[in-house]
Amino acid sequence: MTTGYRSFLGLAFISLCFIQSISTTDVYIVYLGLKDVQDPILTSNYHFHLLSSVFQRKEDAKQSMVYSYKHSFSGFSAKINSTQAATLAGMEQVISVFKSRILALHTTRSWDFMGLNLNPTADQSSPLQLTHGDNTIVGLFDTGIWPESKSFHEEPNMHPIPRTWKGKCVSGENFNPKTACNLKLIGGRYYLKGYEQEHGELNTNDTSEYRSPRDANGHGTHTASIAVGSTVKTASFFGFGQGTARGGAPRARLAVYKVCWEDGKCSEADILAAFDEAINDGVNVISASFGSTPPQLPFY
Ligand SMILES: *[C@@H]1O[C@H](CO)[C@@H](O)[C@H](O)[C@H]1NC(C)=O
Ligand SMILES: *[C@@H]1O[C@H](CO)[C@@H](O)[C@H](O)[C@H]1NC(C)=O
Repeated sequence: MTTGYRSFLGLAFISLCFIQSISTTDVYIVYLGLKDVQDPILTSNYHFHLLSSVFQRKEDAKQSMVYSYKHSFSGFSAKINSTQAATLAGMEQVISVFKSRILALHTTRSWDFMGLNLNPTADQSSPLQLTHGDNTIVGLFDTGIWPESKSFHEEPNMHPIPRTWKGKCVSGENFNPKTACNLKLIGGRYYLKGYEQEHGELNTNDTSEYRSPRDANGHGTHTASIAVGSTVKTASFFGFGQGTARGGAPRARLAVYKVCWEDGKCSEADILAAFDEAINDGVNVISASFGSTPPQLPFY
């Protein structure tokens, strides 16, 4: 019993020391400026010299050094306490001293950032969130869609298309509704009469544009995946920002209204035709990201 009690005390003592040491030192960045970085070794030695001045023992300074920045700018990072940081900050050679913060990956986690988590905890959950947009139909007015993208594959256990849906997937160049459309991508239409009035006949001789809902530009596929993209695990941008790519409402259905073309131009005449049909088709939400060059005109 006594031995057990003693070792418990010993443990408590060790953990107290541990807590104290991690609560009082942080990684700070000490910035010295852009000059004096011709010789990396001299610069590093100088950093060590500065850091040593706030320690009693050189070994402790060595232990605390995290990085010496000596190539493109001069500075260093070190594990020090607030007193040491303040001392360094007061030195003439030092431009600024700030704590190194922990940042998070962006871009594949934007919806989590907004609180729209895929697996919300009990206190975050709202009925709207838990369904992830199930059975909501989003009409996407843009440059069309690349239907093979994984973001437009069906989510597991999707219900049949609502009976109220009156839209359709039209066939067109390089766009076969039988293979392109599914329970997720339930509509595809395109409008180009207005565009051709202004720009002449669409050039589809090379594969740079398609007379169909297929997206040659990429903008529409991008915006559609932001809004309603299904969950795609281990997505990354050439290895960067790896995570689950997903739209804000990954279980929502998508109806594509292609009103903009490869050159990024969209005719208001075509846009209005799409509004006209989309509302009649039964979309619940319309997403449209285009506009005039500033100054912006009212949308009506
Ligand atoms: C910071 O560390 C120095 C050197 O070890 C020490 O003298 C000083 O008391 C410490 N200050 C705080 C606030 O812990
Ligand atoms: C596309 O090809 C056809 C037949 O070769 C030609 O008549 C037409 O002018 C071409 N269109 C454009 C816009 O180049």
